[in-house]
Amino acid sequence: MHFSWSPLKRTFLTNLSVIAVLGMILAACGGSSSGSGTTSIHPGCTVGSNTQLVKLTSAHKVAWSQNALDGAWRFAEEASIVQAAAQNGYQLLRTNANNSDVQQGQDIENLINDRPDVLLVDPHTEDAEVKPILDARKACIPVIVVDRNVNESLASPGRDFATFVGSDFQKQGVLAADALIEALGGPNTNATIVELSGTTGSSPAILRGGGFDGELASKAPGIKIVASQTANFARATGQQVMATLIQQYPNIKGVFAHNDEMAIGAITALKAAGKRPGQDIKVVSIDGTKDAINLVLSGEEYAVVQSNPRLGPLVFQTLGQYIKGQDLPAWVVQPDKVFKKADGSAAAYLPEAF
Ligand code: AHR
Repeated sequence: MHFSWSPLKRTFLTNLSVIAVLGMILAACGGSSSGSGTTSIHPGCTVGSNTQLVKLTSAHKVAWSQNALDGAWRFAEEASIVQAAAQNGYQLLRTNANNSDVQQGQDIENLINDRPDVLLVDPHTEDAEVKPILDARKACIPVIVVDRNVNESLASPGRDFATFVGSDFQKQGVLAADALIEALGGPNTNATIVELSGTTGSSPAILRGGGFDGELASKAPGIKIVASQTANFARATGQQVMATLIQQYPNIKGVFAHNDEMAIGAITALKAAGKRPGQDIKVVSIDGTKDAINLVLSGEEYAVVQSNPRLGPLVFQTLGQYIKGQDLPAWVVQPDKVFKKADGSAAAYLPEAF
């Protein structure tokens, strides 16, 4: 078959080629996604050296850097983020750093190379993820920090990242101290207790510890913390650490664990050492897992301060506001409660515990 182009068709094809080349140039200068690239979807934002938080007018691809998937709290948080992303019509890219700052740094750099429209980060510790978060800002990708915060003297909300969405960990520590003071007989009590703290350098460990210690010192100075040791927010480690501590300090009357997992491990260790948690030794922890609430109901734990892991709705509502150009507060606070047996709050909460 003979095939020849008319002048009109040739002009049309030439125009098409010009459009294609222009498209490629546009993609290189201002296109949407180009691997590791030097591109930006944000006019005026130069990838690699951006100094300001970029504004979003729309978003489709959301990246999510999770610090670990290792307990009921984190599984509940992950499920909440996944569900809220789907409900709001976003594509979600996910990583799990397995409690490693090195891994999370790599995860975030890889996610930046995937060119998401926005990046959500739950930092393992306060300082270690600051650099990759600043790298995201430099790459014209806005970040929302979720659950655990970063050190805000190194990266600030409104300048380096859009906002922080999470609980008030300091207040949780204060509420835990109030509950333990009550369990031990009130502010005039003299007693010794131990503290099992979370991952060293993480914002919940720093703030819960600070809130608890400060409240105890000011409200019940006769209650002394004789040992404070990390058990990395893990049940098995909580059990091991408590097994040692109860040998060293057999007369303690209370345990404050920065999360439920460590408290559950500690209760196992206390029982193995012949103690009766709930009677000889009062235990208070933070989170609101089903396992811990059941211990409250059985009397082996005195109280659990909530740290609500279902952050997805608040995170995606905040993202929606950001896209609409609304000013965000530096901190979007997730409210929490306290669950005890005596006032019925633990029983009422149990059906929604995770
Ligand atoms: O950052 C929230 C804390 O991290 C939760 O209390 C804990 O269970 C998790 O490991």
